[in-house]
Amino acid sequence: MKITILGCGNMGTAYARSFRKYGLVRSEDLLLVIRGEGRRAQLEQLGQVSTAIGSDLGECDLIILGVKPQDFSALAPNLCAMLRPGQVVLSIMAGITLERLRKELKHDTVVRAMPNAPAQIGMGITAYATGMELNMRQTLMVEQLLNCTGRAMHLADEALLDPVTALSGSGPAYFFEIVRTMVATGVELGLAPHVASALVKQTMLGSYHLMEHADRTPEELIKAVMSKGGTTEAAFKVLDKEDLAGTLKRAITAASLRASELGQ
Ligand SMILES: NC(=O)c1ccc[n+]([C@@H]2O[C@H](COP(=O)([O-])OP(=O)(O)OC[C@H]3O[C@@H](n4cnc5c(N)ncnc54)[C@H](OP(=O)(O)O)[C@@H]3O)[C@@H](O)[C@H]2O)c1
Repeated sequence: MKITILGCGNMGTAYARSFRKYGLVRSEDLLLVIRGEGRRAQLEQLGQVSTAIGSDLGECDLIILGVKPQDFSALAPNLCAMLRPGQVVLSIMAGITLERLRKELKHDTVVRAMPNAPAQIGMGITAYATGMELNMRQTLMVEQLLNCTGRAMHLADEALLDPVTALSGSGPAYFFEIVRTMVATGVELGLAPHVASALVKQTMLGSYHLMEHADRTPEELIKAVMSKGGTTEAAFKVLDKEDLAGTLKRAITAASLRASELGQ
């Protein structure tokens, strides 16, 4: 199998690393297209690095689009000129629809995927939708590649990728914001930074595993932590008054809307 990754920032590089780590592609069969020379030396440890889309792209089975959505239209004409029928184009760009990919690339076998940051350590989740029926070989190739960055989930309805973007695509940033704020508050309340950080991170980790193993809903787990007149109840009085749930809902809805705007 031969793969090209166009745009090797956070996600493109994470994909390259995972493919190499799991031996899905040989370094001579992995073409990494970058814009500037800055990261060439680092990326050369993973594959063949180039600063332009060349004719070798035509030999690839899969082309991954890892640029920002705003950069897509600028590179589409060059890419379009090199594509051959049967090659699979897998876009991880937020918001760019399958129809737009098909139209600007004049290419049918397109896949739109939404990964998230933990893909960088093989613990991501990627939801994806396909433009037309891929054949068995192409489908297996896409599943296999996405699975090596974590879990892959096929969506029959492409429109659901906008809420997916808002939930799991942006989700790690919501989580980091909560961790950041909890640690900073712990420090303000007198804890040493490393102590506050360890307490919060282990609490997040332990809470995640409890949720996975306890067979109880998040509501039930909240109730189990909260006793009448206690500390958690005092915290929740503030959270409810300040409408944390409503704020989160508005934030996630705004992210979903932005994902659909990016596709226009
Ligand atoms: N980060 C996430 O957690 C996440 C989650 C889900 C989806 N995504 C999607 O993944 C994509 C990449 O995100 P990212 O965080 O990896 O962004 P990033 O770190 O900014 O990477 C994008 C890369 O594309 C390069 N690039 C732009 N135009 C190019 C061109 N014509 N030829 C070659 N390279 C080009 C940029 O080069 P320069 O460095 O020169 O600008 C940059 O290295 C985005 O579309 C985003 O919507 C990201």
